[in-house]
Amino acid sequence: MADKNMVDEIGGKVAIITGAASGIGLATAELFTERGAKVVAVDLNPDVKKLASADLFPVVADVTTDGSAEMAVTAAVERFGRLDTLVNNAGYINYKEVVETSREEWEKVMAINSTGYFLFSREAMKVMLPQKSGAIVNIASYASYFAFKGIAPYAASKGAVAQLTRALALEAAPHGIRVNAIGSGDVVTNILDSFRDDGREFLVEHGKAAPIGRSAEPREIAEVVAFLASDRASFVVGSVFMVDGGFSVQIA
Ligand SMILES: NC(=O)c1ccc[n+]([C@@H]2O[C@H](COP(=O)([O-])OP(=O)(O)OC[C@H]3O[C@@H](n4cnc5c(N)ncnc54)[C@H](O)[C@@H]3O)[C@@H](O)[C@H]2O)c1
Repeated sequence: MADKNMVDEIGGKVAIITGAASGIGLATAELFTERGAKVVAVDLNPDVKKLASADLFPVVADVTTDGSAEMAVTAAVERFGRLDTLVNNAGYINYKEVVETSREEWEKVMAINSTGYFLFSREAMKVMLPQKSGAIVNIASYASYFAFKGIAPYAASKGAVAQLTRALALEAAPHGIRVNAIGSGDVVTNILDSFRDDGREFLVEHGKAAPIGRSAEPREIAEVVAFLASDRASFVVGSVFMVDGGFSVQIA
């Protein structure tokens, strides 16, 4: 339940959150419903159904499949009456150098992390344009700007998210719709499970190299999602808001 110091920033808003079964998406879905928002929670993982409540409608769907975005938008409008916020968050990473990477592996990363964001943004815009209001928050990464060896498809896909954010923001802003992204640093989640068993421990250790000296908990990203989705961020348009404990501002 809401605590007394909470800012009432997203109460009453209706949001679609993709990748809501785990990590940042789960924390965002929890924070939004705690603060009085209604949520359509989309995930490939059927565990998302366990989140069902009067305020949260789960949709088991692959963000890359034609029709998934339409299904989520329809659910928001039919169940909750409107759509105020889209949080594009579902993500996937693999770890391989380019010469070892197959076309299928490249396309899988691009499909989830870039095409999925495009498909959901397009369908959300179709409801937000006639409403003349809305906010889209894309979960990007410091890998939108910087790279490590072994993550070329991921870095390319997150670079695309940053540019989708800027280009769509220009189309959306005259209609009262704000599009922004979060350049997330290391967050302790299951994101690395696709290629290593100690993914969470790795993220804990890796975050120690940030100026702040640690990785984030998913809730620390969710707080910024809520701000960017809220009317308090009314002048924030087309930005990639770095939330990385300072990782991206240090040279060594
Ligand atoms: N954890 C980090 O350090 C970090 C850093 C920067 C950016 N990010 C980004 O944050 C976002 C959330 O990742 P996370 O760290 O919470 O990871 P996570 O693995 O805990 O959660 C990702 C969720 O996305 C879902 N998903 C994956 N593919 C999907 C698909 N095709 N359709 C529907 N759902 C799908 C998964 O089932 C999972 O529930 C991702 O976009 C990721 O790239 C994470």
